[in-house]
Amino acid sequence: MSITLPPLPYAPEALEPHLSRRTLAAHYGHHHAAYVAKTRALIRGTALEFSSLEDVVLSSAQQDKAFFNPSAQAWNHEFYWRSMRPGGGGVARGAIGQLIEESFGGQRAFSQQFVTVAGDQFGSGWAWLVLEDRRLRITATSNAQTPFVTTQVPLLTIDLWEHAYYLDYQHRRLDYIAAFLGHLIDWDSANENLACKLAAAPGLLGH
Ligand code: FE2
Repeated sequence: MSITLPPLPYAPEALEPHLSRRTLAAHYGHHHAAYVAKTRALIRGTALEFSSLEDVVLSSAQQDKAFFNPSAQAWNHEFYWRSMRPGGGGVARGAIGQLIEESFGGQRAFSQQFVTVAGDQFGSGWAWLVLEDRRLRITATSNAQTPFVTTQVPLLTIDLWEHAYYLDYQHRRLDYIAAFLGHLIDWDSANENLACKLAAAPGLLGH
């Protein structure tokens, strides 16, 4: 059994005051942990028992929602924690900063589009910054859906399930999105995700 609950990349109070210790304790310790436990229980005794989480998500994406939903949620949550850091947010630097200029026309336009896409997502889901067709795009997915199983390259994500923000922001999802953009996004992580993908597929940007 190779799938385990990865440690949070920071202390549960590290994102305060933007996300509380109470939110992270419940979100990581109950929701994320439950998706991992469910995935482990499902694959036990099957051909997938010793597969990586990525392989379980990919192999179940087309035909098996029972396996896909918890495993994709486990993958999405691990990616979400790494999309944030204490003292994050603000203007993107590095390769991502340059791509934001090229793809959206500037950081302000990027932020406005991110707020619109994440704010308009109906019901539970996720908003993502992805690389697709040599440019950045902002996209949203419902429930457990994830660009990880598509040709899009996920670079960062925000969890839009109510459990991600309701204790701190109640119905004010836009305030949570603003805090994510202004104080939580880990641009270094997004740059690392891009660099990692480009190392494996150098032609993705067409340069
Ligand atoms: Fe969540």
